Amino acid sequence: MRIDKFLADNSIGTRKEIKAFVKAGRVSVNGAPAFDPGMHIDPASDEVGFDGSVIKYEKFHYYMLNKPAGTVSSTKEGASTTVVELLADEGVKNLSPVGRLDKDTEGLLILTDDGELLHDLISPKKHVGKEYLVITEKPVSGDDLKKLAAGVDIGDDKPTLPAKAEMKDDGLHLTITEGRFHQVKRMLEAVDNKVTYLKRIKMGELELDPVLKEGEYRKLTIAELALLKAKSDE
Ligand code: URA
Repeated sequence: MRIDKFLADNSIGTRKEIKAFVKAGRVSVNGAPAFDPGMHIDPASDEVGFDGSVIKYEKFHYYMLNKPAGTVSSTKEGASTTVVELLADEGVKNLSPVGRLDKDTEGLLILTDDGELLHDLISPKKHVGKEYLVITEKPVSGDDLKKLAAGVDIGDDKPTLPAKAEMKDDGLHLTITEGRFHQVKRMLEAVDNKVTYLKRIKMGELELDPVLKEGEYRKLTIAELALLKAKSDE
C-alpha cells in the first residue's frame, strides 16, 4: 500500500497535505524518515510514524454514540445538529449512522465508514434486535405486552413482526427486529398509549456503555465489533 493512502485512510490529512508532510520529514517508516509519498509499505509489518507517534492502520472506523435528544440521524436538516457532526473532532470521512433514531430519541447509535457492515446491520433480512427503553403516558398492561409481543397493526400493509416486550423497574423494554418509520411510537399508539421518552439501549448483542453521557462517544472495542460482525453474518 502507498504510504500516502495509508496516512489518508488514517485521517492524517488529504493526499496533498500528506505529500507536504512527507517532504517535510514528518513521516517515518521503521524509524527512518520517508521522503517519497508514493513509497510502498506493508501495513501489517512496517511501523509508520507521524510526528514521532506510531500510526496503527485502521481501514474502517467504528464508534458508539449516546445520541442526545435534539440531534438528527440524517444529513443536515435546518439548524439541527447531526449525529455525524458530534464526531467531527475525529476527522473521519464518510461516517454514517447505522439506522436512524428520531430527533427526540436518545441512546445507542453506531457510526461507521464500513459500508458493508452498515448495510448488513440495517438489512431487514438480518433481523438484528434493537432494544428500547420506553416510557409511556399511561401504564402498560399485561394484555398490552402480549399484543406488542405478538405484533400490532400500525397502519402498514402488515402487522409488526413478533417482538419482546417486558416491564422492568425503569420502564417498558421493547425489542424489535424491524426498523419501520417511528415504529416504537406507532406500536404504543396501537395499544392506545403514547411514548413520552425513548432510548435505544442495545443493538444485536451490543449494549450502550452506561458511562457514556448524552452526546459522548467512543470507539468500539475489538470484542464489541466482533459481536456486531457476528450478528451481521447470521
Ligand atoms: N422507533 C421510534 O418510534 N423512534 C425511534 O427513534 C426508533 C424506533
